[in-house]
Amino acid sequence: MKIVHTIDDLRAQLRGQLRTAFVPTMGNLHEGHMSLMRLAAKHGDPVVASVFVNRLQFGPNEDFDRYPRTLADDAKKLEAEGVYVLFAPDEREMYPVPQEFRVAPPGDLGDILEGHFRPGFFVGVSTVVLKLFHCVSPQVAVFGKKDYQQLMVIRRMAQQFSLPTEIIPAETVRAEDGLALSSRNVYLSEVERGEAPNLYRLLQETQSIIRETNPSEPEEIRALEEAQLRKLIERGWRPDYLSIRLRSTLKCATADDLVRREALVVLAAARLGSTRLIDNLEI
Ligand code: PAF
Repeated sequence: MKIVHTIDDLRAQLRGQLRTAFVPTMGNLHEGHMSLMRLAAKHGDPVVASVFVNRLQFGPNEDFDRYPRTLADDAKKLEAEGVYVLFAPDEREMYPVPQEFRVAPPGDLGDILEGHFRPGFFVGVSTVVLKLFHCVSPQVAVFGKKDYQQLMVIRRMAQQFSLPTEIIPAETVRAEDGLALSSRNVYLSEVERGEAPNLYRLLQETQSIIRETNPSEPEEIRALEEAQLRKLIERGWRPDYLSIRLRSTLKCATADDLVRREALVVLAAARLGSTRLIDNLEI
């Protein structure tokens, strides 16, 4: 595996490649990332991974400084997985001048849920992903469903900017007890790690209730969301949201949508101690 740190070296390595599959990451790689690499290998060759902790997508009080940086370990894992090139730029390479041009996702997708609680997050993500796409020129790129809203934002960006990159979704990888794998799980104390899978259990319970009761009014959905939020709070979580949305747009379902049985997804973000976890489940 070649490790390159500059855009020029990256382009030189990839010259002439016609089916590059790309997996952007922020490093501290775990089995979830490895499953993205494997899926990428099914859709293209060579596989290119990037590791870049993107300052633009972190809010002023978020964990940019303490975000785990483990490049040597990451490189070993990627090499073992058969990745062809690892692109690991530093900040000066990606942002040699202040990034004044930015990609602004539409508010009805980018300013809700994660975007509401992390203002500017999807602007930061879209901007770096567009830049990375220009560096790698991939034919396909893989994004995990764990970051459900991010996947939708990137898909819509690719569509609306007519990018020549097909966006491939990857299923969430979970620990045996159901906790979605995430680089931020390392922040959890032992006690918190024991509690953490209950977020997924609550999503599963929400899924079962909806499947069993087939709600036909938005008020029933709101009441269920509130009941599930209360359960999280009672368990000691500090939730930002637990919300049942249309899969196609992430908007709230109208009575018509519910009667038509439009596909739904439940998404949640909540803090356990100082760690903020997100998860989701299609219904
Ligand atoms: O999902 C992530 O790790 C990041 O948001 C991404 C897509 C690598 C952009 O920095």
